[in-house]
Amino acid sequence: MHAIKEMDQAYILNTYHRLDVVIVSGQGAEVYDETGKRYIDLGSGVAVNTFGAADKEWADAVCRQARKLQHASNYYFTGPQSELAAMLCARTGMKGVFFSNSGAESNECAIKAARKYGNDRYGIARPNIITLKNSFHGRTITTLSATGQEEFHQHFMPFTPGFVHVEPDDIGEMEQAMDESDCCAVMMELIQGEGGVRALDYAYVREVARMAEQRDMLLVIDEVQTGNGRTGELYCYKHYGIWPDIVSTAKGLAGGLPFGATLFNEKTRHVLGEGLHGSTFGGNPVSAAGALNVLSRIDDALLAGVGEKSAYIRETLTGVKGVRGISGLGLMLGIETGRDAGDILAGCLKRGVLALTAKGRIRLLPPLNIPQALLAEAITILKEEIEA
Ligand SMILES: Cc1ncc(COP(=O)(O)O)c(C=O)c1O
Repeated sequence: MHAIKEMDQAYILNTYHRLDVVIVSGQGAEVYDETGKRYIDLGSGVAVNTFGAADKEWADAVCRQARKLQHASNYYFTGPQSELAAMLCARTGMKGVFFSNSGAESNECAIKAARKYGNDRYGIARPNIITLKNSFHGRTITTLSATGQEEFHQHFMPFTPGFVHVEPDDIGEMEQAMDESDCCAVMMELIQGEGGVRALDYAYVREVARMAEQRDMLLVIDEVQTGNGRTGELYCYKHYGIWPDIVSTAKGLAGGLPFGATLFNEKTRHVLGEGLHGSTFGGNPVSAAGALNVLSRIDDALLAGVGEKSAYIRETLTGVKGVRGISGLGLMLGIETGRDAGDILAGCLKRGVLALTAKGRIRLLPPLNIPQALLAEAITILKEEIEA
């Protein structure tokens, strides 16, 4: 057995189901294993490597900052995080940002702020947060509680109380929960990524936003996976024409470095004050430099390209024998197939294509700038494996 796999199995907790491949390097949408075999990457490390592996411009920006200052702590001002916060606010219209290191942490921050908002205005009368069944919000005890899937509510009792789970796209159930559950906020993913790349209904989302505002409940949108250009808009909420009170994001924001951000609007901007939240690594200058590079490159041309590539994948796979449906937006797509998705992906892996699964569907999250020729090569292989 290869030394890397041997050491991994001997010393790393067995919490991941690893595929039989060691990734050692990459360039853009192509990555290489230890034998030198090339793979076209349609997963981007689960929507993290926004511009693929070792993108030159991104790596230069990151290395420049690492050589200048890698960390200073949040006792001091540092340039990259303030520049990034200003850019995030300018691009979204949001009014303030808290930086952390992961999706779960960006959601923890959102949850703390939502509860504090409720507390400030209504005391303990509104402690709860409504989330959706089939959602995924992270792996900490509180974000597992927020996650609306029973399989995540095992083994680690007691979980954090205060979450009410309702059926997605059922406006009646949402209204009842809002009226009967003493809630300060609604938190949801607009496309449930881990839940099978299921986009929420447009009219449902707009009605939830309206009902929440009417009741002074915050609208919290989890854009950890859908954010940062993934769906063809900078943030997915723009597709739905809503204005969230809080947006959490992570994954692709820093293009491959651990980073999270929670964005606040006018109403929620001052809810968390001095001493109420913090993070040693949050806003780390190197990660922030990576994020500045990523964000400044998610422009109209890139977003238009995401839309075109999405249309290409949909057109190529629609009507193919074995394809039962295609869900999602932009370069966040789910493919429902007649055959086991894992078997199809094993065939793709052998032929040099990496992709993902989510709830029995094939999940595609390629780098946003994947060249059309590479995308076509990979989708042809995927199509043949689905048909096989
Ligand atoms: C929508 C959503 N929220 C939160 C998370 C948790 O992010 P992280 O693994 O960075 O903590 C994920 C991760 O897949 C996610 O997809």
